[in-house]
Amino acid sequence: MLNLAVIGTGRYGKNIIDAFKQLERQGLAQLVSICEINRDLLDLHCERYQVKGYTDYTTMFEKEKIDAVAIATPDHLHREPCVYAAKLGKHILVEKPMDVSVEGCLEIMETAKKNNVLIQVDFHKRYDPHHQQLCKDVRSGKFGIIEYGYVHMEDRIEVPSKWFSSWAHMSSPVWFLGVHFIDLVRWCINSNGKCAYATGHKIKLKQMRIDTYDSVSAKVLFENDVSGKTVYKGYGIESISDFVYNVRYLKDGGDFGQLKKNSISAFGEDGLEVTKIAAAIHKSLETGEPVFI
Ligand SMILES: NC(=O)c1ccc[n+]([C@@H]2O[C@H](COP(=O)([O-])OP(=O)(O)OC[C@H]3O[C@@H](n4cnc5c(N)ncnc54)[C@H](O)[C@@H]3O)[C@@H](O)[C@H]2O)c1
Repeated sequence: MLNLAVIGTGRYGKNIIDAFKQLERQGLAQLVSICEINRDLLDLHCERYQVKGYTDYTTMFEKEKIDAVAIATPDHLHREPCVYAAKLGKHILVEKPMDVSVEGCLEIMETAKKNNVLIQVDFHKRYDPHHQQLCKDVRSGKFGIIEYGYVHMEDRIEVPSKWFSSWAHMSSPVWFLGVHFIDLVRWCINSNGKCAYATGHKIKLKQMRIDTYDSVSAKVLFENDVSGKTVYKGYGIESISDFVYNVRYLKDGGDFGQLKKNSISAFGEDGLEVTKIAAAIHKSLETGEPVFI
């Protein structure tokens, strides 16, 4: 049996628990434990899901037999648990963004490579059937050569001011939302970022004592190499299930190279390239200059 764990069981970690429990009901894996530093939340989930709980993931890994782990700590707190789990040889599904620094992504990837660990990043926009159709059309040449595109995303103010007010100042609309569409565009046009130029505003949230951007407008140039084949699957919770299918495939002797070639999944390489672009957007915001990637 494939043994799963979740680190960070806030709003999104709970969604992962639900996805893992669903796979458990299908006999594909079992959720053996969760880790959450908020004791009340931990107790609530342990009771509700009848699962073992820990406040410290090092103890959890010491005590439990875990094959794969999902990490849903705040945006700026992914690196440490990812590197720790990778060193122990645990396969990892990390919430987006993979890390808020290119160095962090590289450290995670190097550790994963050394320990033969699968790193998957939960860029679930790839699993939306509308996006899959768009991607198919772009790749089949329906729209000809893509010269430019426009993506616009908005969150309600409750998201930074209530949902994750304790760490909103450590994130931004680019880290929290933008990375989804940076990944989607990269995936559709099969191209990495070349240069980013961005402007942003800090007014409303700053007045509310949350030091992050209200909005960011970024122009990203891509290298533009349109090609590639993808296998399409479901949506939403599917991106999390997909990680479990991949770990099962590897556990059954599957090959990393084949997995990466045929899968829809966003891997460590994708997480890294997205973070490169998002980090360049932040640098451009600071310097007011275009930033080459
Ligand atoms: N895929 C998506 O569309 C999607 C949607 C929402 C959030 N997210 C991502 O999920 C992550 C979590 O977001 P959220 O909204 O659930 O935040 P949250 O603040 O609700 O939850 C994070 C939880 O992590 C816990 N935590 C922090 N450090 C920990 C540690 N060392 N060990 C164990 N637990 C720890 C916190 O106590 C908190 O409960 C973020 O990276 C966010 O960007 C992804």
